[in-house]
Amino acid sequence: MTRPVHLLAITGLVAACSDDDQARRRSLGDSPSFGALMQVADAGRGGRLFGQCAACHTVRMGAGDRNGPGLYDVVGKPVASNSRRFGYTGALRSVGGLWTPERLDIWLAAPARFAPGTSMAFRGVPDPLDRADIVAYLQTQSSAGAAEALPSRP
Ligand code: HEC
Repeated sequence: MTRPVHLLAITGLVAACSDDDQARRRSLGDSPSFGALMQVADAGRGGRLFGQCAACHTVRMGAGDRNGPGLYDVVGKPVASNSRRFGYTGALRSVGGLWTPERLDIWLAAPARFAPGTSMAFRGVPDPLDRADIVAYLQTQSSAGAAEALPSRP
């Protein structure tokens, strides 16, 4: 008799999540700053949104590269450096600097605009709150965020 209880719990969680998203969007108002978005970012939801990245990226420690470089611990790293083995494009290598949360947000909005000629064949994530959630998730998939014990994605 535990299964029906679990199903109910899951249904309740899903409902609570979407209510929470609506509440977050309402509280943010029109064109919120990235800082404001990060204040309410939901790493758990970001982990689910990472599904659209997982065809090309792993995010677990030591999980290696796919079509794209492994992303474990990428936040704060120099751009085009997270995997030693990966063949980054000159387009991404020439960007320089570090993957701050702000820059990840700009990159994920439109990779080809951030680094014209990049091999990341991905249109981008148009929704700012979705991007903030994904960046918050990436922050947890790191040596610093390990204590938060969110489940890793493939
Ligand atoms: C179709 C495959 C594909 C998808 C989907 C994809 N990426 Fe990428 N990603 C790549 C490739 C390829 C690169 C290397 C780009 C280059 O060298 O120009 C890359 C690079 C990156 C980097 C830079 C890593 C470093 O070491 O500097 C980050 C961060 C990143 N992707 C995050 C994401 C996130 C988050 C998503 C989902 C929202 C995503 N990517 C979706 C293929 C993909």
